[in-house]
Amino acid sequence: MNLILLGPPGAGKGTQAKIIETRSGANQLSTGDMLRAAVAAGTEVGLKAQEVMNRGELVSDDIVIAIISDAIDAPDCAQGFILDGFPRTVAQADALEGLMAEKHKTLDAVVEIRVDDEKLIKRITGRFTCGNCGEGYHDEFKLPRNEGVCDECGKSDFKRRADDNEETVRKRLAAYHAQTSPLIEFYSAKAKLISVDGMKDIDDVAVEIETKLASM
Ligand code: AP5
Repeated sequence: MNLILLGPPGAGKGTQAKIIETRSGANQLSTGDMLRAAVAAGTEVGLKAQEVMNRGELVSDDIVIAIISDAIDAPDCAQGFILDGFPRTVAQADALEGLMAEKHKTLDAVVEIRVDDEKLIKRITGRFTCGNCGEGYHDEFKLPRNEGVCDECGKSDFKRRADDNEETVRKRLAAYHAQTSPLIEFYSAKAKLISVDGMKDIDDVAVEIETKLASM
């Protein structure tokens, strides 16, 4: 199964991608995670991306298209992929269509996760992750079962993203509305789009996605 998760920052794309990954065996491909790894490794791509990401703007189409082109060929995508954070512009969506045709792959569905802007700010500013295994948490909505200890790996090394402050989140939201939201119409016109209510609890959103995918 090959899916795109579409939605504003904090909509729950990463959270739901991990749930779908566990359920289906398809591999989560997060361009945000890949760019942050490049920043941490100090690669040429990372050096180009860092300032842009900290300003809440989009990294150039060329960079992210090249990253995705390599990633979807990797053996861990043999059972499919879940694109989380890509495409984010119509140019990226056009490029993805070309790549998929070239690689003889098919896009099964695009899942749009809808959440109000003010709720997103609260979600993002409260988010933290395990620095060891990447499991995601939230100060209010998803705390570790034992305070200060990751549920998944037992480590106590949590971190917060540099772009998860309110000022940058508002810029990321503006970038979403201006550059990414036209993709809703783009995929709706291709009869690939399903929309889910991302305001519900995490498990309820997961059930809605599963049900709607099954009935496509
Ligand atoms: P990226 O890392 O993709 O960030 P984003 O799109 O802004 O999305 P987030 O990761 O912030 O949110 P999410 O939807 O995954 O939510 P999550 O599940 O974590 O991109 C970062 C930057 O990289 C961009 O600004 C850009 O500069 C660059 N970039 C990346 N891709 C690019 C591309 N294709 N082109 C150009 N530039 C690119 O959930 C958020 C929090 O809410 C968590 O704490 C979670 O526990 C909680 N939560 C989730 N669901 C629920 C729920 N239903 N109820 C309550 N809490 C919930």
